[in-house]
Amino acid sequence: MVHRRSDSSESNHLLPLVHSDPKKPKSAHHLLLLLLFLFSVLSFTFLRVPTGNISDDALGADSSPAPCSTVANSTICCDRTAKRTDVCYMRGDVRTEASSSSVFLFNSNTTRQERIRPYTRKWEADTMSRIDELRLRPTNETGSACDVVHDVPAVFFSTGGYTGNVYHEFNDGIIPLYVTSQKFNRKVVFVILEYHDWWVSKYANILSRLSDFDPIDFGSDKRVHCFPEAIVGLKIHDELAIDSTKMENNKTIRDFRNLLDESYKPRIEHIKQEEGGADNKQQRIRTPDSRPRLVVVSRNGSRGIENEPELVNLAAKIGFRVEVLRPDRTTELAKIYRSLNSSDVLV
Ligand SMILES: *[C@@H]1O[C@H](CO)[C@@H](O)[C@H](O)[C@H]1NC(C)=O
Ligand SMILES: *[C@@H]1O[C@H](CO)[C@@H](O)[C@H](O)[C@H]1NC(C)=O
Ligand SMILES: *[C@@H]1O[C@H](CO)[C@@H](O)[C@H](O)[C@H]1NC(C)=O
Ligand SMILES: *[C@@H]1O[C@H](CO)[C@@H](O)[C@H](O)[C@H]1NC(C)=O
Ligand SMILES: *[C@@H]1O[C@H](CO)[C@@H](O)[C@H](O)[C@H]1NC(C)=O
Ligand SMILES: *[C@@H]1O[C@H](CO)[C@@H](O)[C@H](O)[C@H]1NC(C)=O
Repeated sequence: MVHRRSDSSESNHLLPLVHSDPKKPKSAHHLLLLLLFLFSVLSFTFLRVPTGNISDDALGADSSPAPCSTVANSTICCDRTAKRTDVCYMRGDVRTEASSSSVFLFNSNTTRQERIRPYTRKWEADTMSRIDELRLRPTNETGSACDVVHDVPAVFFSTGGYTGNVYHEFNDGIIPLYVTSQKFNRKVVFVILEYHDWWVSKYANILSRLSDFDPIDFGSDKRVHCFPEAIVGLKIHDELAIDSTKMENNKTIRDFRNLLDESYKPRIEHIKQEEGGADNKQQRIRTPDSRPRLVVVSRNGSRGIENEPELVNLAAKIGFRVEVLRPDRTTELAKIYRSLNSSDVLV
C-alpha cells in the first residue's frame, strides 16, 4: 500500500502503483498474496510482521531428515528444532482430558512428559505465553473409558494469538493447518484450543475441505476423545509459504490456492444465482470486456490511498476496468475472493 499526500499532481506519482503488466497471466502465488494483502485490510488488530531477530536462514530449508519423521507405536516424539513452531506426534492409544489440559498416551512404555503450546509464533515469548499449554502424558495404566472413539488422527492447534487479524489467520492458522493436515485427505479431526465460534464459521468453507469432521472445542468439550494418532501443533514453512519439498505429495502454494477456489466456488455460484434473479442491473457483468481488471482495495484510515480518485481515473484512462472494493468487517470472504480471483492487478 502506498500512502501519499493528496498534493500529488501528476500521473507519474500514480504509475508506480500499477506495478504489474496487466496482460501477464496471474500466478497462484500472486493471487494468494493478493488475497492475503486484502484480507489484512479486514483485520481488527495491527498487522504484525516477523521481527528482525528471526533470520530467513534460521527458518529456511534444512537438509537433514526431519526429526520424528517416523514415530513408533506407543511413543511420543516432539520436534522442537524449528524456529517458528514445535510439533509433537503421538501414536497409539491417545485420549484427551480437557480438565487437566492433558492428552494421554496409554500403554506407553516411555515416561517422559511433554509440554507444548500449539501455535506458530514460537519466537515471540509474549504471544506464546498467552497460548494454552497442553501436557502430553505417557502412561502405562489403562485409561478412563472413551466417550467418543475416532478412527482417524487428531490435529491439535490454537486459534488464540493473533487470531482476529486476517493476515495472521492465514499465515499462522489456515496455511499451517493445510501444511500439517492435507496429507490425511480430510480423514482427520481438528481439536482446537482457544476455540472461537466466529473463527470456525468464518473459515467453515475451507475447514470442510480439510476435514470431514466437526472440529472439537478442547476447552469446553469435557468428553474423553480417543484417537489412534495425534499431531499437536502446526507445521509452518515460512511467511505465507508452502515449501513443496517438505510436503507429502509435493503440494505447492498452487494446490492451496486451488483449495481456496474449491472452498468458495459453491458459495460464489449461489451469489451469482441470487444476482441473476435480482434485477437486470448485474447483466452488464455478462457483457464481454477484454480490458484487464484492476481492483482497488479502499481503506478508510490507516494505509488509505489519499489520491484514490485520481488513481482510479488514471487506471481507467490507461485501459483498466476498475473496481473499488470497500470491505468492512462483515464482508463475506467469498465475495472478496470472487473480486480478487477475477482481478489482474490489485492496488
Ligand atoms: C517400548 O520401547 C521399545 C524401545 O524404546 C520399543 O522397541 C518397543 O516396541 C516398545 N514397546 C511397546 C509396547 O510399545
Ligand atoms: C498401537 O498401540 C496401541 C496401544 O498400545 C494398540 O492398541 C494398537 O493396536 C497398536 N497399533 C499398532 C498399529 O500396532
Ligand atoms: C508402570 O510404570 C511404573 C514406573 O514408571 C512401574 O513402577 C509400574 O510397575 C508400571 N506398571 C505397569 C502396569 O506396567
Ligand atoms: C515429488 O517430487 C520429487 C522430485 O521432483 C519426485 O521424485 C517425487 O516422485 C514426487 N512425489 C510425488 C508423490 O509426486
Ligand atoms: C477463479 O479464477 C479462475 C481463473 O480465472 C477460474 O478458473 C475459477 O473458476 C475462478 N474461481 C471461482 C470460484 O470463480
Ligand atoms: C471513514 O470512517 C469514519 C469513521 O468510521 C467515517 O466517519 C467516515 O465517513 C469514513 N469515510 C469514508 C470515506 O468512508
